[in-house]
Amino acid sequence: MKDNKDWKSKANRPELDGNLQYHIRCRPGDVADIVLLPGDPERVPKISQMWDSYEEKGRNREHVTHTGVYKGVPLSACSTGAGGGSTASAMEGLATIGAKTFIRVGTTSGIQEHIRPGDLIISSGAVRYDGTSENYVNLNYPAVADYEVNLALIEACEILGYNYHIGITATTASFFCGQNRDGYGGYRQSWFQDRYEDLRAANVVNYEMEAATVLTLSSLFRIRAGAIFTVIGNRVTDEFSYEGVEKSIEAASLAATILHNWDQKKKDKNKRYYFPSIDR
Ligand code: URA
Repeated sequence: MKDNKDWKSKANRPELDGNLQYHIRCRPGDVADIVLLPGDPERVPKISQMWDSYEEKGRNREHVTHTGVYKGVPLSACSTGAGGGSTASAMEGLATIGAKTFIRVGTTSGIQEHIRPGDLIISSGAVRYDGTSENYVNLNYPAVADYEVNLALIEACEILGYNYHIGITATTASFFCGQNRDGYGGYRQSWFQDRYEDLRAANVVNYEMEAATVLTLSSLFRIRAGAIFTVIGNRVTDEFSYEGVEKSIEAASLAATILHNWDQKKKDKNKRYYFPSIDR
């Protein structure tokens, strides 16, 4: 692993010999086609310890990358850190070294009363208050999940027997004021509450901080992506309870194996897209 002080490369896309990527410190061959994207670096070993085997491939800043095998399927997990900026840097590096599918896996708070702590949410799309994806494409462009990734996430939740919801996520650039929480010292602006009420009226189901970046950039990069979350809070009932995080991890890893198997079927049947009756 190179230290920053040893890093001499072109400035446009900093890479060292063998395409070592500046932020994630991984190179081609280090990651599988399917990469899980937790925010928290501590969650990477929690994910990979569920697999049959794994190795650490990179560790730099907020980005820890493990690659291994789960149910015979090669998988990677790379932490993005919190928020869009570091998420985009990780995705840039991962796409450059060959990632083909991203599954964001994280925690969230529900903003509708029926979304209970311990439930799972699969994002159908995301409201782009992430502050980063607009540096790539204007805000009229949608942040949408890939249907195959979402179908695999649904299948995984059904197999595991987990309670899940499918809905639109609001991704914000701030955990506090961006999600209608008080800032330090009770700091508030009037629009915090209005934006929250408007999101609720538009049937948005949850707040988190990376999905819109992952979904938007994936569409731009021609990469499949989806997002699944464990609900750790509810903003309507004002509950917060950090439990069930292993459920979204388990569902994301299982969904990755399902996608891999569907990809094989698509190849066997010479089809570009998966559909439920492909086996008939
Ligand atoms: N992640 C967020 O961004 N917000 C929450 O309330 C919980 C997790």
